[in-house]
Amino acid sequence: MEKKTRLTFIEGERIELLPFNPENVNIHARWANDPKARLYARNVFPVSPEDLKKRLEQNQEPPKRDISFEIYHKELDKIVGLVEFHYINYINHAADLSVLIGEKELWRNNLGTEAAKLMIKYGFDELNLVKITASALRPNKGACRMLEKFGMKLELVLKNQTYFDGEYVDELIFCISRDEWEQTNK
Ligand SMILES: CC(C)(COP(=O)(O)OP(=O)(O)OC[C@H]1O[C@@H](n2cnc3c(N)ncnc32)[C@H](O)[C@@H]1OP(=O)(O)O)[C@@H](O)C(=O)NCCC(=O)NCCS
Repeated sequence: MEKKTRLTFIEGERIELLPFNPENVNIHARWANDPKARLYARNVFPVSPEDLKKRLEQNQEPPKRDISFEIYHKELDKIVGLVEFHYINYINHAADLSVLIGEKELWRNNLGTEAAKLMIKYGFDELNLVKITASALRPNKGACRMLEKFGMKLELVLKNQTYFDGEYVDELIFCISRDEWEQTNK
C-alpha cells in the first residue's frame, strides 16, 4: 500500500493505525468469521461484509461512542487487525478497549501490545480519557497476558458471566487510569 494512498492517523514503530477503509471490508469479514479469532472476540453470529461495513462506517459518525482503527503492518505492507474503543463516555471520560490481530499466524509477535499501547496513549493524550477498561474471558490467556503486560490491572471478576465454547466462564475486567499510565509511560 503506497504511503500516499494510506491514511495514517497514528504512527508506531512497526505499525500504523488507519481509519477504516471500506475497500478492506472483506478482510475484516474474514477475521470476524474466523473460527478461532471469533471465539475469543465473542462473535457468536455470522457477519457479512455488508453488516461489517455498516457497523464500521457508523463508528465514524458523531457522537463517536466507538472509534475503530485498522492496524497496518509496515514491513508486511498489509492490514493485520483492528483496535477499537467502545462505549466511549464523554462525561465519565472512560472507554472500553478491544484488540484483534486478525492474521492468526502473527499472534505472539507483540503486535497486539503495540496497537493497544498506541490506542491507550491516544485515549489519554488526545481524547482526554481518565480510565480505560478491557474485558477478556478467563480462558483467553493471550488477551489476559497482553492486557497485564502493558499495565492494566484486574479490577473485577464476573463469575460465570459468559457462555463460551460450551460452558460458562468468568469474564475478567482489566483497568488502567491515566495516572497509572503516566507513571509507567512518561
Ligand atoms: C489477544 C490478542 C489481541 C493478542 O495479540 P498478540 O499480538 O498475539 O499479543 P502479543 O504478542 O502482544 O502478546 C502479549 C503477551 O501475551 C502472550 N500471549 C499472547 N498470546 C498468548 C497465548 N495464546 N497464550 C499465552 N500467552 C500469550 C505473549 O507471549 C506476550 O507475553 P510475553 O511478552 O510475556 O511473552 C490476539 O491473540 C487476538 O487477536 N485474539 C483474538 C481476539 C481477542 O481475543 N481479543 C482480545 C480482546 S481485548
